[in-house]
Amino acid sequence: MEWGMKNRLSQLIQKDGKALFLPIDHGYFQGPTHCLEKPGETIKPLWQYADAIMLTRGVLRNCIDPAIPKPVILRVSGAVSVIGDLANESIVTSVKEAVRLNTAAVSMSVFVGTSGENKSLTNLGKLVDECEDYGIPVMAVTSVGKELEKREARYLALVARISAEIGARVVKTYYCKDNFDKVVNGCPVPVVIAGGPKTETQKEVFDFVYDGIQKGAIGVNLGRNVWQTEAPVAAIRALRAIIHEGCNPKEANDLYEQVKAGKA
Ligand code: R5P
Repeated sequence: MEWGMKNRLSQLIQKDGKALFLPIDHGYFQGPTHCLEKPGETIKPLWQYADAIMLTRGVLRNCIDPAIPKPVILRVSGAVSVIGDLANESIVTSVKEAVRLNTAAVSMSVFVGTSGENKSLTNLGKLVDECEDYGIPVMAVTSVGKELEKREARYLALVARISAEIGARVVKTYYCKDNFDKVVNGCPVPVVIAGGPKTETQKEVFDFVYDGIQKGAIGVNLGRNVWQTEAPVAAIRALRAIIHEGCNPKEANDLYEQVKAGKA
């Protein structure tokens, strides 16, 4: 692996082999998402606890201080909306722009088993070809669109493996309760877990992140279950404790409650 690629990956994946990515890219297809109406404000108290932030160039340029000492994962796919055909994404930001913005990685969604399957996977291949020239890792984002029931091991393992075969350096997938180890074990590159829609309790998030890591995920790319919660700083600090400090879900939940109560 070239030095530039190694350097960028080491900015993202920490010395302990783990990673906490904080995505705030949801507006690219959802518009002003709840709690992300002003992304710069949302992220201000949170970024210091993340290993990297994931977002589009529009939010990066307009809402994020260029002096922020965190690596950026730039979402480069889009051109769809929540009221249209989500699977029909195109690449909307060039690799030249990613270089200009000094990004540590780029990300794009893949839509396996949909009308956008071939287009998104072909786009992934082209993006990987171009990014490898510059030593930029590509993170493939497994997308299930509105079909949340697709979040089961057989499907997720299929998409993760295909994405890695095409050349993604990191794969973002969803967690599934049964056989999540098959998703990770079948994927030859590091896997991070997304959070999905806001859960009923915060403990559920700590449970699934902990279990996902025990089964081989290196961390998370998790947004709504941080910044849509009652206590976003407490939520991200508790996730950090699981990912980087080896805490179990109960310990993480205790920390969450303490931070929320202003006691830690
Ligand atoms: C979709 O909007 C993006 O790819 C998100 O970055 C990804 O789904 C992770 O965010 P969340 O934890 O909110 O699902």
